[in-house]
Amino acid sequence: MLNSSLSATRSHSLPSTPTPTLSPLSSTSFLSLSSPSPSSVSCLLPSSSSSSFSKKLTSLSVSQLARPNDPRKQRSLKVKCSQREPLKVMISGAPASGKGTQCEMISQKFGLVHISTGDLLRAEVSAGTDIGNKAKEYMNSGRLVPDEIVTSMVTARLSLKDAKEKGWLLDGYPRSLEQAKSLEKLKIRPDVYIMLDVPDEILIDRCVGRRLDPVTGRIYHEKNFPPETEEIKARLVTRPDDTEEKVKARLQIYKQNSEAVLPIYSDILRKVNGNRTKEVVFNEIDLLLSHVLNEKEKAAKSELSTKTTTTQANMVSSSKDNWRGIPTRLNNIPHSREIREYFYDDVLQAIQRAVNNGKTRLKVEINIPELNPEMDVYRIGTLMELVRVLALSFADDGKRIKVCVQGSMGEGALAGMPLQLAGSRTILEYMDWGDDGALGTFVKIGSIGAKEVEEQDDMFILVAPQNAVGNCIIGDLKAMTDAAGSRPVILINPKLKDVPGSSGIMQTMGRQERLEYAASFEICYLFRLLYYAGTQYPIMAALRMCYPYPYELYKRVDEAAGKEKYVLLTTFEERPSGDEINNAFEGKPRSQEKKPLGIWGFLSGIL
Ligand code: AP5
Repeated sequence: MLNSSLSATRSHSLPSTPTPTLSPLSSTSFLSLSSPSPSSVSCLLPSSSSSSFSKKLTSLSVSQLARPNDPRKQRSLKVKCSQREPLKVMISGAPASGKGTQCEMISQKFGLVHISTGDLLRAEVSAGTDIGNKAKEYMNSGRLVPDEIVTSMVTARLSLKDAKEKGWLLDGYPRSLEQAKSLEKLKIRPDVYIMLDVPDEILIDRCVGRRLDPVTGRIYHEKNFPPETEEIKARLVTRPDDTEEKVKARLQIYKQNSEAVLPIYSDILRKVNGNRTKEVVFNEIDLLLSHVLNEKEKAAKSELSTKTTTTQANMVSSSKDNWRGIPTRLNNIPHSREIREYFYDDVLQAIQRAVNNGKTRLKVEINIPELNPEMDVYRIGTLMELVRVLALSFADDGKRIKVCVQGSMGEGALAGMPLQLAGSRTILEYMDWGDDGALGTFVKIGSIGAKEVEEQDDMFILVAPQNAVGNCIIGDLKAMTDAAGSRPVILINPKLKDVPGSSGIMQTMGRQERLEYAASFEICYLFRLLYYAGTQYPIMAALRMCYPYPYELYKRVDEAAGKEKYVLLTTFEERPSGDEINNAFEGKPRSQEKKPLGIWGFLSGIL
C-alpha cells in the first residue's frame, strides 16, 4: 500500500502550449558577387593594431585565462531550457535503478513536484478504481500499462498548479516512443533528461530486496537500506511485481522501449552511473541540476536585458538627439581609428546579443570602404583587426575561440585561394594578440573544415569564407557546422553564392542546396553605404542592422561648413529590397506598387 495522496486527478485540463517564436530570415541579398581584381587587394596591417586594443589585451589577465570556472566544464552540461519557468526534470532507468530513491532526495532539495507513473498507478489499484482494475493486470505481469491510460494521467497531473509553479520531476514516463511523442505534441519538454545506469545483475537483487513503507512512502532495501525501527519494519510491504521472474520480464520490456525514447531527448540526455551509493549518485545529480538552474536563470536575465535594451534602442532610434549616430566622412580613406573602433564595437555588440540569445549560425556583412573588397581601398588588415577585437572580447568572457581562414581549394589548374584572402592566415598568426598568452590558449587559428572542430572550442569565427572559380567552400563549411553542433559559428563577410566558372559546373549541380545552406545563417549585423548606381561618390545613404533591432535606413545630409550627418528615414522589419529602399527615398508609402528604376533608382544598381 502506498501513500493515498498520490491519487490521480484526471479531470484537469491540459497545460496550455507555448507559442513558438520565429526569427525572420532574409532571402534578399544585396551583395555583388564579382571577385575583386588583383589590383583592388591591398594587404596592409594597420600600424595602430597593437596599441588601439592594448586595453582590451591587457585586461585579459593570466588569472582570467586560468579561471576556476572553466567554461569548458560548463559547456559539457549545456542544457536547453525555457526561460523564467521552474525546473523540469525527467528521470529514467531500468526497474530498481534507483529512480524513486533519487526522486525523494531531489524533490526535497529542489522543491519539485515528484510525479511517478508507477506511484500514480499503484494508488489507482489500491483505490480499486476502473483504471486501477485495468492497470493491475498489466503491472502484475511486468508489462506496460496501455498508453492512453498513463498519458492522460500524466498530462492531467502536469497541468496542476503546483507542478506549474514549483516545477516537476517526472519519474517513469515517457517509457515508450508513443508516450514521448504525446509529450512533444503538447510541447511538454524537460530541461534535462537523467538516465540512471545500473548493471542488470545488481537490478534484480535490488528489486527482490525492496520493501516499501505504506505510511511514509519511503523505499527501503532489506540489506542495503534496512528500516530504522522495528515498528517500521513490521509494516513494510513487498511490491507484487518484485519477484525475480517478474523483474526479469520488466527489465526486458524496459530495454525494448527505452532505446526508442532516447533520440527524442538526446540533446538534454545526461547519463549518471547509478551503481554507487545513493548519496554519491545524488551528489552528481545535485551538481547537474544546480548547473541547469543557473543556466535557466542566466537565460532569463539575458532575455530580460535584451528586452530592456530593445526598448531603449527603439526610443533612441526615434529620438535623433539621443542617437549616437553613424560616423561621418566614411569616404575618407584610411578610416580613422575612431571610425574603425565604432564599427568593431557595433559588430561586437550585435554578435554578443545574438549569441546570448542562443543563436548559433550567424553572419556579419559590413561593407565600409576599407572592408569592401570591390573597392580599391579594401584593406585586409582592417578585416583582421575586426576579427581580433571579436575574438579577444569573447576570450575575455572566458570562451575558447577558433578563428578560421579557408586554405587553398581545388586541385591542379583550379587550385587556389580567393584573392581577397591571400596572406590572411599569415597576418593573423603574426598579429599582436597581446602579452597575456591569449593566442594558443583562448584564441586559436585554424582553417575551415570539420577536422578543425575540437571538443574544447566554444565558438568559431570564420573570416570571409567564399567560393572561388570552380571551387565551392560550402562542403567544408557544412562539415564544420555539423561538427560544431550547437556551438556558435559566425561568418564575417561571407560570399557564399556560386562564382561563375567557364565550365558552368558549379552553377548547376546542387546549387539549390548550397543556397539553402548559405541562407541558414542569420544576419546579426549589416552595414552598407549606398551610392548612385555605378558610382562610389557621393554617399547617398546607409543601411544598418544591429541584432536584434530592425534594419535602419539613413539618408546622408550635407550641412554647412562642409559637415554632414545621417538622418534616419525609416526602418524595416526584414531586409529591404532595392525597390523598397528607393521608395523610402521617394517618400512612397510601403504598399505602393513597385516600379522599375525611377529618378531615385540609383540604389538598385548597387543592391
Ligand atoms: P515503476 O514503479 O515506475 O517501476 P520501475 O520503473 O520498474 O522502477 P522501480 O520503482 O522498480 O525502481 P526505481 O528505479 O524507482 O528504484 P528504487 O528507487 O525503488 O512502475 C511499475 C509498473 O507500473 C511498471 O512495470 C508498469 O507496469 C507500470 N508503469 C509505470 N509507468 C508506466 C508508463 N509510463 N507506461 C506504462 N506503464 C507504466 O530502488 C530499488 C531498490 O534499490 C530499493 O530497494 C532501494 O532501496 C535500492 N536502491 C536504490 N538506490 C540504490 C543504490 N544507489 N545502491 C543500492 N541500493 C539502492
